Amino acid sequence: MNLRINGARLWDSLMKMARIDALPGGGCGRLALSDGDREARDIFASWCREAGCDVSYDRLGNMFARREGRDPDEPPVAIGSHLDTQPHGGKFDGVYGVLAGLEIVRTLNDHGISTDAPLEIVNWTNEEGARFAPAMLASGVYAGAFDLDFALTRRDASGKSFGDELARIGYAGDTACGAHKLGVFLEAHIEQGPILENNEEVIGVVTGGQGQRWYDVNLLGRDAHSGSTPMQGRRDALAAAARLVLAVQSLARAHGEAAVGTVGELNVLPNARNTIPGEVRLAIDLRHPDDTVLSRMDHELRAACRTMEEVEIGLEMIWHNPPIAFDSDCIDALKAAVKLHGYPSRQMVSGAGHDACQIARCVPTAMVFVPCKDGLSHNEAESAEPEHLEAGCNVLLTAALNLSAATACERRQQRCREPAE
Ligand code: GLV
Ligand code: MN
Ligand code: MN
Repeated sequence: MNLRINGARLWDSLMKMARIDALPGGGCGRLALSDGDREARDIFASWCREAGCDVSYDRLGNMFARREGRDPDEPPVAIGSHLDTQPHGGKFDGVYGVLAGLEIVRTLNDHGISTDAPLEIVNWTNEEGARFAPAMLASGVYAGAFDLDFALTRRDASGKSFGDELARIGYAGDTACGAHKLGVFLEAHIEQGPILENNEEVIGVVTGGQGQRWYDVNLLGRDAHSGSTPMQGRRDALAAAARLVLAVQSLARAHGEAAVGTVGELNVLPNARNTIPGEVRLAIDLRHPDDTVLSRMDHELRAACRTMEEVEIGLEMIWHNPPIAFDSDCIDALKAAVKLHGYPSRQMVSGAGHDACQIARCVPTAMVFVPCKDGLSHNEAESAEPEHLEAGCNVLLTAALNLSAATACERRQQRCREPAE
């Protein structure tokens, strides 16, 4: 059966969600655990309840909206992503994956279709990492990459902790993070890059995610008068930081097209025109699909830091997220769905991080991408065509139906019983 979702209804939900913390440029600034995040969660929960789901959340506020299956003991086929955004984020990054899950449930309700395994729609907390670093924090705890206390004690730029803010918005549940078991996890997302658009393809079947290393860097020089201090002998932390920013650019360029390096945050102290900056704090993000290359980039970054002789440098790697390969059965289910619907597609590795990249470490997982305009994301102008969003959701619906069938559940159980190679 070639069942299709209601694209107009999916679009309408996306546009309604985009009103929360809407920005003048058409995007959203809905940081994790803000009042806007609470509002988005409340609306999402109410829509899920209206669709007949039972909504629960765990110790880190990860939300699970469950549509019961014929076999309630079977671990659910879960579909989801995140509702938080970047400070200058768009309407689709994350939100599409959550609301695609809701649209699938609504479509099954419209047609009176029940599934063997239950279906769940998931909203993972703090995917973006823009307010509380690192990214994919709560899906990371779920998958065992971080422990609970690490997550609860992360602080935002104003010193507020993740744990306090989660309790403040009323989404700190009792269930241990990771105790709510999933059978399969599927995530739909805009590509956030130009490959599908440039090749006029509608679906990317994602086979895995690239590796990431995040660093906090502190450059300590000495404040001094800008007029009376000779250029010789200054300990200008900003001048050193500028060289470090360029070093990040060139070390990424030196490792081929797949390598990327970014300095996206920079704080200058005391930030006064006529004082030589005595301190700079900055944040670095390095990524590559091959962990060996990523560790070479790490060595080169450390070597670059050693050349900044006029300052003391503290470099802390706050996160190493190794590359991840998605589950072959889930990938096959997505490929079969793409074929059934007849969409032009390709297989690809994700450049962006996603909750799926964490969940894949403990649950069979895969993703679909749809194109976004000019490959632009983490930008208010982020835009996607309604028919592409609909296509991605159709693929997910077909794959979720196949993966929730009793035969697919038995196959997963069988694979669990097989000894690891
Ligand atoms: C999340 O959007 C990331 O890729 O950093
Ligand atoms: Mn995202
Ligand atoms: Mn993002």
